[in-house]
Amino acid sequence: MSRTPTLPRRRTLVVGTGGIAGAHAAAVAAHAGRADVVCGVDLDPARAEAFAVQHGLAGWSTDLAAALQGTWTASTTGTDDAPSTPVDPRPDLAHICTPPGSHVPLAVQCLEAGVPVLLEKPPALSLAEVDELLAVSQRTGVDVAVVFQHRFGSGALRARALLEAAGTRGLGEEPGVPTGIGRPLVATCHTLWYRDADYFAVPWRGRWEIEGGGPTMGHGIHQFDLLLALLGPWAEVTAMAGRQARDTATEDVSMAVVRFAGGALATVVNSVVSPRQTSSLRIDTERATLEVEHLYGYGDEDWTFTPAPGHEDLAALWITDPAAPRSSHSSQVGALLDAMDDDAPLPVTLAEARDTLELVAAIYASAFTGQVVRRGDIGPGHPFYPRMDGTGAPWAAPTEEDHA
Ligand SMILES: NC(=O)c1ccc[n+]([C@@H]2O[C@H](COP(=O)([O-])OP(=O)(O)OC[C@H]3O[C@@H](n4cnc5c(N)ncnc54)[C@H](O)[C@@H]3O)[C@@H](O)[C@H]2O)c1
Repeated sequence: MSRTPTLPRRRTLVVGTGGIAGAHAAAVAAHAGRADVVCGVDLDPARAEAFAVQHGLAGWSTDLAAALQGTWTASTTGTDDAPSTPVDPRPDLAHICTPPGSHVPLAVQCLEAGVPVLLEKPPALSLAEVDELLAVSQRTGVDVAVVFQHRFGSGALRARALLEAAGTRGLGEEPGVPTGIGRPLVATCHTLWYRDADYFAVPWRGRWEIEGGGPTMGHGIHQFDLLLALLGPWAEVTAMAGRQARDTATEDVSMAVVRFAGGALATVVNSVVSPRQTSSLRIDTERATLEVEHLYGYGDEDWTFTPAPGHEDLAALWITDPAAPRSSHSSQVGALLDAMDDDAPLPVTLAEARDTLELVAAIYASAFTGQVVRRGDIGPGHPFYPRMDGTGAPWAAPTEEDHA
């Protein structure tokens, strides 16, 4: 979208300058002239400073409270091109890129300082925590957006438009509206990844109290968030989970069958023990199959569209462009800057992210209790509301000997 030159150039903070922070810096850099990361904040000063130097930021800090007021240590390599400090020195956005257990406390600190947040997934460790954050956002009137970058590739946008055009996201086709691809009937959503023992040697990985879960919460969440964005509200889930091979407290595999409010049935598989890695999502509607297969991000070339026999003319609905935006932090940051310019809610909204987190909680609740869980079942007083492991995982937690 073209923007008028009078729109403000946004100044952002990156909080947590570890692995994923570089994708945020690159995403902002991809929108040069519209936004700049001005400061990197980390508990580890060497890491914060190195990040500032690497990305040519104005400064770095170990003190989030000060950075939220626009005060930081000047970087030796800050870019001359950075915008001058405005009348209000507070940044326009804080990207929170720390481990999951710190997401809500840090986001609350930003909101209380009046600074909107772009929060890495998963937004919170539990539904109780996400509700606490929603309440602070509503009271302060400051937005929280959550990173679910797979919603922003052109293939997902096109698929969503086709599903919405026929009124297929659970609402049924409207009389007189062209039928298009028809209602979604069946879906598969598989995140089959491989993470070895070294990956889990990092102290915060594989622990309920810091990660909030295993591949359901931390890995497959990307792909089934996209499934929810395409198919609309889920209605009920039945699931199993296991700790097949890794010395973690959390699961390393989960499998769920989900019924959507619109009637579609989907399988959702989340694994970190699968040597041939793939992320795949397939939706069969009445008259076409929409499918994407990739690993950590897709382009148009990763999607296929297959009309049902006798409906070959529907192929004209699926026009791909290899140069179209991929699913990436950069695509989401572009959409977020558009929303800021338009004074619209920042995508993906916390309320939308809550729906995805509710499915995570329901998968664990079903897997650990053997019950079918319906949307809305998990609220205050339910054991899976304050903790994703609720009544406790049915496998023993790893012992010191396991780690010896
Ligand atoms: N969207 C994606 O595709 C994607 C990919 C990878 C990771 N992530 C998410 O990004 C987050 C971070 O993951 P990572 O792999 O970059 O972790 P990491 O361990 O590499 O980096 C985390 C950084 O945060 C710093 N930190 C921790 N607590 C802090 C605090 N209270 N204040 C300031 N700094 C603090 C640490 O010192 C470290 O530098 C996680 O929530 C993860 O799930 C998202």
